[in-house]
Amino acid sequence: MVMERAKPRLSVRLGKLELEYPTLMGSGCYGSGEEYSPFVDLARIGAVVLKSVTRHPRLGNAGPRLVTTPGGMLNAIGLQNPGIDYYLEHEVHKFADRPCAVIGSVAGFSLEDYVDVAGRLAARDEVDALEVNISCPNVASEGETFACSPQLTSQVVRAVRAVVKKPLIVKLSPNVTDIAAIAREAEAGGADALAVINTVRGMAIDVERRVPRLGNVTGGLSGPAIRPIAVLAVYEVARVVRIPIVGQGGIETTRDALEFFLAGASAVSIGTANFTDPRIPARIAGELEEYLREHNHGSLDEIVGKANVGLRSPDEYEGDAG
Ligand SMILES: Cc1cc2nc3c(=O)[nH]c(=O)nc-3n(C[C@H](O)[C@H](O)[C@H](O)COP(=O)(O)O)c2cc1C
Repeated sequence: MVMERAKPRLSVRLGKLELEYPTLMGSGCYGSGEEYSPFVDLARIGAVVLKSVTRHPRLGNAGPRLVTTPGGMLNAIGLQNPGIDYYLEHEVHKFADRPCAVIGSVAGFSLEDYVDVAGRLAARDEVDALEVNISCPNVASEGETFACSPQLTSQVVRAVRAVVKKPLIVKLSPNVTDIAAIAREAEAGGADALAVINTVRGMAIDVERRVPRLGNVTGGLSGPAIRPIAVLAVYEVARVVRIPIVGQGGIETTRDALEFFLAGASAVSIGTANFTDPRIPARIAGELEEYLREHNHGSLDEIVGKANVGLRSPDEYEGDAG
């Protein structure tokens, strides 16, 4: 008799939030999921992370806001959103009864902004958890980006944690010298999970017109071009924190996602790839199962952080110069 092998377990816990699948849709890249429901079975993805919302409405940056680059894309949307008042009154009720988890995303320009928006959004039943996008300038410290300062990261995470009981994911920026130091502050401040990474700063110039190709001059690079940066960031963060990591940056295929799990991520998020094929996340869920079965694993957590990097410890690092 041939015994049917048990299905490998793909579910993942981010704090108190249990996701059936370890695939999240990146903030700003999947709407609220509704737009994709004619093409995708949302029950086959773990969660949708909503576009970041701010205290006041924002029109966003002047165009062009998107520019394609080799292996990726530069964006400078400028956090366009209707502001939290409108959002709570007219948008959030639409997120009820989604067949996957819904994670709200909060952005701000002061501690007060974050606390106000996070507290009010987390109070809504339609939202299962919150992600805090800290890649924003703090007006009170000359525009220093929260995510680029261990102190500001600590302050904003502690302040939001004080008003939010629901699971809290803190999204880190790669535009720092030591992402591990920032990750430690976010964990100590009370984060339940970390999203690693947001976009990488970049710029492109039109050489005929001799002007920047983005209306905002600079922007954030996403897509496959940033994947090795993101995998390294996950690897470095995973060595210093105990909370789960949602790896992201350039994931297009199951093998890409596997790199992140092996580097130490417990879940992955897909952003830019959705613009070319919104079915990728559901496909990855199916193919992950196959991979685990082929390699005799009963659950995804058996491979998390299992890249064999030999005996190399942080003290052995001697630089990466070519
Ligand atoms: C057009 C666009 C809009 C985005 N908007 C947000 C946002 O509002 N908040 C946020 O935290 N991240 C935002 N991101 C970042 C993505 O969620 C994701 O972290 C990043 O693009 C890296 O993943 P990817 O290479 O799979 O896109 C945006 C990215 C893109 C391309």
